[in-house]
Amino acid sequence: MTQMLPDKDVRILLVDDEPSIRKIVSLLLRNEQTTLFEATNTTEAHDLLRREKPDIMLLDIGLPGESGLQFLERIQDELGETLVIMSTGVDDALVAAQAMRLGAKDYIVKPYNHGTFLSSIRSALEKRELVRENQRYKEGLERTVAERTKEVQEAQDATVFAMAKIAQSRDDETGLHLERMRDYSIALASHMLEEEHAIVDSAFVLDLFRSAPLHDIGKVGIPDAILLKRDRLTPEEFTLMKTHSIIGAQCLDGAAELATSKVGSFLRMGKEVARHHHESWDGSGYPDGLAGTDIPLSARIVSLADFYDALAFPRVYRPTSFPHENIRNMISELRGKKFDPEIVDVFLANEDKFVSIRVRSADESVYDEFPPG
Ligand SMILES: [Fe+2]
Ligand SMILES: [Fe+2]
Repeated sequence: MTQMLPDKDVRILLVDDEPSIRKIVSLLLRNEQTTLFEATNTTEAHDLLRREKPDIMLLDIGLPGESGLQFLERIQDELGETLVIMSTGVDDALVAAQAMRLGAKDYIVKPYNHGTFLSSIRSALEKRELVRENQRYKEGLERTVAERTKEVQEAQDATVFAMAKIAQSRDDETGLHLERMRDYSIALASHMLEEEHAIVDSAFVLDLFRSAPLHDIGKVGIPDAILLKRDRLTPEEFTLMKTHSIIGAQCLDGAAELATSKVGSFLRMGKEVARHHHESWDGSGYPDGLAGTDIPLSARIVSLADFYDALAFPRVYRPTSFPHENIRNMISELRGKKFDPEIVDVFLANEDKFVSIRVRSADESVYDEFPPG
């Protein structure tokens, strides 16, 4: 007799109280590569199901005590990958339907016919294999999509960051201001995320990481004579300098509109940051004179980070930098004036991070110690 089941060890749990049926089943399976477990009631069946995790459970409906259907209903959540085939002595469509509803894969009537019996087992196994294959395919596809998305995202981040670096390179000789801006902003935002701030979720933190470097992108529109001037700017020059916030927002506006909603969220935040990073909490900033929470939170965070870094590292117009303590005192004094009081408090709680970002950055840049030119 030829083998009908797949050529591997199929584990079958037979639950039947009639010895003659158990004998028949073992005869029907004698040419197949199977391991047969036998139970005469649902208590034994439950034990074997848990211990042996069979591929198939052949479950008699008319068992003494708890019926096969009651048992199936009770252990539905424990079936895992075990396929259930109900068996009964009466061909009752209603019972069959009920069993299927409870998750049984098939229904066979005793006495078993050799062909029907094996093909029922076989088709249940095949269906399960199909489901597994489908699942594997889906997982593979999801992995590929996730990998591609990540690649695209990384390429996009790198491009945008490179753009920002070009804009920044003219007045940032050491070139690490933008990296530090990311770090300070994230230090503040992550603290707010941990404190369950109403606006800050993980998407906000990620968008801020990408958009903080864009704050001064509008400097591309400021002439060298003003941007690189070593002396104090005249009022006219300062007026022109201030337009970098508007120019930056305009640059990013088109890009943000072109991008789809999910991808574009950091560009929209970048636009806010570019336009409003020089606003003050008390309304005395530029370009719009916004006050309090009318200033986007992203811009309020970046504003403090930018102020800190401007004083922590020398600039074209100011060759000296300040110790951390001095900058901290200045920021504390500007609490509720230039800066959002809440963000000042977050800064004060994370001072050590600011110090280490500063120290690390100074270590990484050889130009800080040997300024070129
Ligand atoms: Fe700026
Ligand atoms: Fe800056």
